[in-house]
Amino acid sequence: MSAPAWPTLPVLPDPATDAILGSGLLEELAYAFGGPFHFLLPDAFDANLRALRAALTRAGVDGSVYFAKKANKAAVWVERCAAGGAGVDVSSAGELREALGHGVRGEDLMVTGPAKSRALLGLAVRQGALIAVDELGELDALITVAATGPGRPARLLLRCLPPGQPHSRFGMDDAELATALERCVQAGVTVRMEGFSFHLAGYAVQPRTDLAGRLVARCLKARAAGLHARRISVGGGLAVSYTDAASWRTFLAEQRGDHYHAGRTFTADDFYPYHSPAAGGGALRALLEARPSGGDRPLREVLRDSGTELVLEPGRALLDKAGATVFAVQGVKDRQGYQIVTVDGTSLSLSEQWFGSEYLPDPFLLPRDPRSRGGVHPASIGAATCLESDMLTWRKIPFTRRPRPGDLLVYPNTAGYQMDSNESSFHDLPLPPKVVIDGTGRPRPRWRLDRHFT
Ligand SMILES: Cc1ncc(COP(=O)(O)O)c(C=O)c1O
Repeated sequence: MSAPAWPTLPVLPDPATDAILGSGLLEELAYAFGGPFHFLLPDAFDANLRALRAALTRAGVDGSVYFAKKANKAAVWVERCAAGGAGVDVSSAGELREALGHGVRGEDLMVTGPAKSRALLGLAVRQGALIAVDELGELDALITVAATGPGRPARLLLRCLPPGQPHSRFGMDDAELATALERCVQAGVTVRMEGFSFHLAGYAVQPRTDLAGRLVARCLKARAAGLHARRISVGGGLAVSYTDAASWRTFLAEQRGDHYHAGRTFTADDFYPYHSPAAGGGALRALLEARPSGGDRPLREVLRDSGTELVLEPGRALLDKAGATVFAVQGVKDRQGYQIVTVDGTSLSLSEQWFGSEYLPDPFLLPRDPRSRGGVHPASIGAATCLESDMLTWRKIPFTRRPRPGDLLVYPNTAGYQMDSNESSFHDLPLPPKVVIDGTGRPRPRWRLDRHFT
């Protein structure tokens, strides 16, 4: 069978990951751990943070970045936020403790998520964290907690139900926001109402610019009512491009049911958009340059002229190219026209597989025997479990040599949501450890364990 018959999705070039793949380190670590593991590249995280800040600076906009911790549990990201002066967006008492414990100051935390417990609200107020209030009942609870507790005002944003996504279970509609504003005014110095927030599903830029423009107008009204209201948070959702435009287009045009194990079928809508014209810092630049609907000025001017700060809560975009996941091949069996490779881990380490979707970027095969022969060897990747549906890749990947037991399979760019959101010790398999690789420019990469094992 000729290679073009099998769709591929090559990742964008990444010299740091390439250097590690070629260094021999992964083979050593696979031997040391005797099972799957993740490696993390904090230099990439720093670079992504710098790109976002550069976009803010270039636009002349005041802004703050809070890393959405839910996207990856490793401690190293929080340490990088603390070192780099970024904030952390947390959604549970556990995440809040982790962020504090790894060096982020309380006032650099943002607490998001629905119907937060009183314990979390109390902790957040005591630490001086910014709290995105999701509903009126939570606002009442927060006012009570702040009035009776820690002796400092509750810093808050009011989360808005996006008019374009009215079925979202998060945020408040117009009437609820009006009531919330009244309650904030009545609460006086018990609260410091700093502005509004939203988080949109999807990755489109214009709806974010539109809603940001509306929230600036809301801030101006709130200020007129005596509230502080000088910040708006546009949440997360800055896209990441895993591949180039042409590869993505070709993949979508070519892929069909017989390219997948068991005839699985996917439509384009089932997939994350693995290429976006504007991604990371570029998406932020586009967001700031776009004009909110009904206005004639770019968002950056609207923010600047109104003295409003832009808050961002990126998860995935800060983790772009910041880590990968390594499995060893345990077995290879033949099926009609392709192989099924079984690796020593599970698809719980590749979360996309649990959302009726597929993590598409091509994994790299590192053969144990580099002399192994070439050719085209399509193979799907299964987990070392007894679940029929536990597939790391349903797609038949056209490997250029036949996978063999002992080879390594490296799934690239998995730090954003793939690695550990869903991991559990199913079958009593240990959770894959996380290895931090510092200073990827060195002749020989240096590694350590992240302090987080769960
Ligand atoms: C409130 C909030 N902020 C930020 C994020 C991070 O989004 P992303 O990783 O797409 O940047 C999420 C993701 O669900 C979220 O719910």
